[in-house]
Amino acid sequence: MTTRIIATGAYAPGQVITNDDMAKVVDTSDEWITQRTGIKERHISSGENTSVLAVNTARQLLCRAGKKAEDIDLIIIASVTADYGTPSLGCMVQKEIGASNAVAFDITAACSGFMFALSIADKYIKTGIYNNAIVIGAETLSKIVDWSDRSTCVLFGDGAGGAYVEKSQTDGIIEEEIGSKGELYDILTEGHTECKNVFNDKKEEPDPLWYVNMNGREVFKFATKSVVKSVERVLKNAGVTADEIKFVVPHQANTRIVDVISNKLGIPHEKFYMNIDRYGNTSSASIPIALNELNEKGLIERGDKVILTGFGGGMTWGTMLVSW
Ligand code: UT7
Repeated sequence: MTTRIIATGAYAPGQVITNDDMAKVVDTSDEWITQRTGIKERHISSGENTSVLAVNTARQLLCRAGKKAEDIDLIIIASVTADYGTPSLGCMVQKEIGASNAVAFDITAACSGFMFALSIADKYIKTGIYNNAIVIGAETLSKIVDWSDRSTCVLFGDGAGGAYVEKSQTDGIIEEEIGSKGELYDILTEGHTECKNVFNDKKEEPDPLWYVNMNGREVFKFATKSVVKSVERVLKNAGVTADEIKFVVPHQANTRIVDVISNKLGIPHEKFYMNIDRYGNTSSASIPIALNELNEKGLIERGDKVILTGFGGGMTWGTMLVSW
């Protein structure tokens, strides 16, 4: 028995911000952003919070999978930008779509979040506890970037993407792994909250660590190393060769990272599905948004072997080999 992706979906806010628009906010240029990252534009929320993006994605998944909300067993949302500390985005989605029989929760693994969430859903389904799940990555990173820091604010975008998965006797997830290297946690952080209370003398000053803080070069190195090793391990464990792969859907953080990964793995660049030019880095939403586009374009057929792979804060990584 395995877990199969039956439907994909995605939703992004309507407002599109180009690199030229960014150059009006910080000292940057379309040339720098395009050459260093491959990003041309990104969707930025004009007020919709993360739950709105997640709910729209969930509704699309139900519609495309032909399921009623009451039939959903499990809802897992990956995010680092939830509306609240509590309730979880999962519970907010559960209420809005009316999935009264589901159990719902969130997980946090930054840009690897969708891979972690899908891995958890897969275990619940494979062990027979649940028959199906809605798994979503959703982010409004625009609320946690420092809009005066050109080295980070140009990179990120808002959006959500997801998959409806269910028990399958044939095609589905063949092999997967998730991993973490906590000793590197401080090379990419966001959302730090200080321990301020009436019994200590902490001053009421803004916390600079609330915003995305990143050592870009170290993250770049970690990304290329961890993803290459992870994809190699997953292929080896599955007994599948790189030639058999129809598409790789990587986390969309930087086209240069993907160039390195493609060269090291010996998988041609054309097999890496990219849409970073139109979305920027949407963290946990990036892999499912790209997968949904690939699916909507009809570029994958039943039985095709597809790799989903990403890396992110934590530091974390995750790779999945699926038979579509
Ligand atoms: O999902 C995981 C999230 N993060 C990542 O995946 C990030 C991984 N790292 C990267 O993608 C790259 O390291 C970046 C795109 C973040 C940066 O590229 P880089 O080639 O490593 O550039 P750099 O940080 O070494 O900066 C080069 C120059 C610096 O100027 P000087 O010191 O050479 O004069 C920066 O101040 O570019 C400057 N710079 C900019 N210039 C124009 C940095 N940001 C900008 C900007 N516009 N937006």
